[in-house]
This record gives sequence, C-alpha cells and structure tokens, in this order.
Amino acid sequence: MTVPRILLLGKSGQVGSALQVRLAGRGETFAPDRDACDLANVDQLRDVIRGVQPNIIINAAAYTAVDRAEDDADICFRANAIAPGVIAEEAESLGARLIHYSTDYVFDGAKEAAYLEEDMPSPLNVYGRAKLAGDRAISAATDNHTIVRVGWVYGLAGHNFAKTILRLAAERDELRIVDDQVGAPTSAEFIAEVTTRIVDCWARDAGPNAGKEARGVFNLAPSGRVSWHSYAVELIREAKRHGWSLRIEEDRIIPIASEQYRTAAARPKNSLLDTRKIRQAFDLDIPAWQVHLKQFIAELGAHAR
Ligand SMILES: NC(=O)c1ccc[n+]([C@@H]2O[C@H](COP(=O)([O-])OP(=O)(O)OC[C@H]3O[C@@H](n4cnc5c(N)ncnc54)[C@H](OP(=O)(O)O)[C@@H]3O)[C@@H](O)[C@H]2O)c1
Repeated sequence: MTVPRILLLGKSGQVGSALQVRLAGRGETFAPDRDACDLANVDQLRDVIRGVQPNIIINAAAYTAVDRAEDDADICFRANAIAPGVIAEEAESLGARLIHYSTDYVFDGAKEAAYLEEDMPSPLNVYGRAKLAGDRAISAATDNHTIVRVGWVYGLAGHNFAKTILRLAAERDELRIVDDQVGAPTSAEFIAEVTTRIVDCWARDAGPNAGKEARGVFNLAPSGRVSWHSYAVELIREAKRHGWSLRIEEDRIIPIASEQYRTAAARPKNSLLDTRKIRQAFDLDIPAWQVHLKQFIAELGAHAR
C-alpha cells in the first residue's frame, strides 16, 4: 500500500480537525462532513465507504454530549454503537483497516490504579455504554482494527473543559471545580500524532500480517495524573504566564466533591489509563500532560490574536 486512500470521519471535531492537518501528504484523504456522511444514516454511511474504497478508515466522529446522552440514548447508540459496527463490517468486506476512538468512560472508576486495556468495563452512563457497544461491534466485525482509548480530550477545535475554564476565569471571581476525579488531560494534537504512527504502521505493507502489532485496543494518555480542579489551576496559571487577562485569583478556585456538582451522567472517579501497551507497540515516548497543555495555551493565545 504505497499511497493509502484514507477516509476520515468527524473532521470538524477536536481529534478530527487535528488529524486533517497531520494526514496531509500521508495519502489521499477523503473527509466528508456530517451532512455527506451521517453516522445515524446507515445506508449513507455504507454508500460513502463503498464509494471511497479506502484502505484505511479513521472514525473520529461520535456523539460526545455525555450529559445529553442520558435523555438521547437512541441517538447516542446509533452514532456510537451501531455506526462503528457498520463501518467495521464495510472495512472488513473491503479489506480496509479501521482506526477508532474509545473512552475511559467504559470503566466505572472504582479501580485504584490506572486501567489496563483488558480490565473489565462497567460504564456508569449511557455514553459509556454506547461507546463500549461500539468497541465490541468493531471487534466482532473485523480483526483489522485499532481502537485507541482516550479520555479528558482537549484541543483547539470544538468544546472542552479547558476552553470553558479559560472563558469562565475571564468572567468570574470564583470557580468551584471537582477535585475527586482524576485523569490525564489529553491533547487532540497528541492523539492525532500517535494516530499517524498507527496509519504508517497499517500502510507499511498490504499482506495478511500487515499492521499486526497495531491490532486491538490501546490506551493512550500523557503521563501523570491530576484532578479537574488542579487541571483548572494549571490552565489558569499557564494562561496568566502568557499574559492573558483573567479575573479569577488562584485562591478563589475552590475544590469541591463530585456530590456538590450534580450532572445528568455519572462520571468515573478514576479515569487513568495505563499506556504500557501502546508505548511498546509503537515505540512511543509519552510526555507529561503539562507539556501539551503549555503548547495548547501558546497556540490558543496565538489564534486569539
Ligand atoms: N472529548 C473527550 O473528552 C473524549 C474522551 C474520550 C473519548 N473520546 C472519543 O474521541 C473521539 C473524538 O472525540 P472529539 O472530542 O474529537 O469529539 P468532538 O469534538 O465532539 O467531535 C465529534 C465529531 O463527530 C461528528 N459527529 C457527531 N455526530 C455525528 C453524526 N451523527 N454523523 C456524523 N458525524 C457526527 C461531529 O460533527 P459536527 O461538528 O458536524 O457535529 C464532529 O466532527 C470520539 O470517538 C469520542 O468518543 C472523546
């Protein structure tokens, strides 16, 4: 497979837009928008895949409104459970490889240590249940898949905790942030960078064993751990270091318990993902989460100017 044909779904999202930039020059990329390829429309989805005849499909599209999903289970399952299965079936019949993203929300967060790929999933919310069903549908339909499991994603495009905190820090005198859920903030740029390594691995040759080391589920996260509260403090400190004019003072960023911040969907207390498997498979050097956060603030500042 010298010049792979790559079908990218979800190009407007955090991960999808970072991927679009990184994939340039790596193959022939087709990136339909949601109107042209709606995950909820199975016939359209199949037609697009059959029309493009890709060697590699990257599915960065998903229903990601975690709280809204509690009332929208049907729509969430169509996008996050049924569609990935359909994509995987089409990939299998074309002999294409599928790269897909899963979530830390497949776990209940009760484990003390970081989650391993093979730990028993037990999602606490509709979104997590739908994503888990999607992972299983893919595994059942094709061996030629890489499922990259990520959590706490932020990036320049789209909505995320980091952007919300920075906006609120400019508007408010006080912020109350959950301090008893831990994870590792994961940059969409980093996910895209690692995804291109996986693409290269799949594209290296087309034989039956091609991409063998890329098959299966892989956790991906930067190193380190932090609570939402400490993450917010670090975001605000870094933005101030870059000269952002923010109203909030650090001592007014108040740590609270999850019970004091009710959301429609329950979230795991522990979102940490063990990355040993992906580091070994792709010979990755994984930096601390603060490294990407600094780059993000610098880039966000440059975009705003
Ligand atoms: N965000 C996180 O913290 C997080 C955590 C763990 C795992 N993940 C997973 O990582 C992957 C990428 O997430 P992200 O944060 O980049 O998502 P995102 O920013 O919310 O973007 C989602 C993308 O999916 C598209 N999309 C949504 N519904 C669709 C539909 N019915 N048909 C076609 N396209 C549709 C959106 O298109 P429009 O812009 O047109 O709506 C957008 O391009 C997803 O699989 C997600 O489940 C994310």
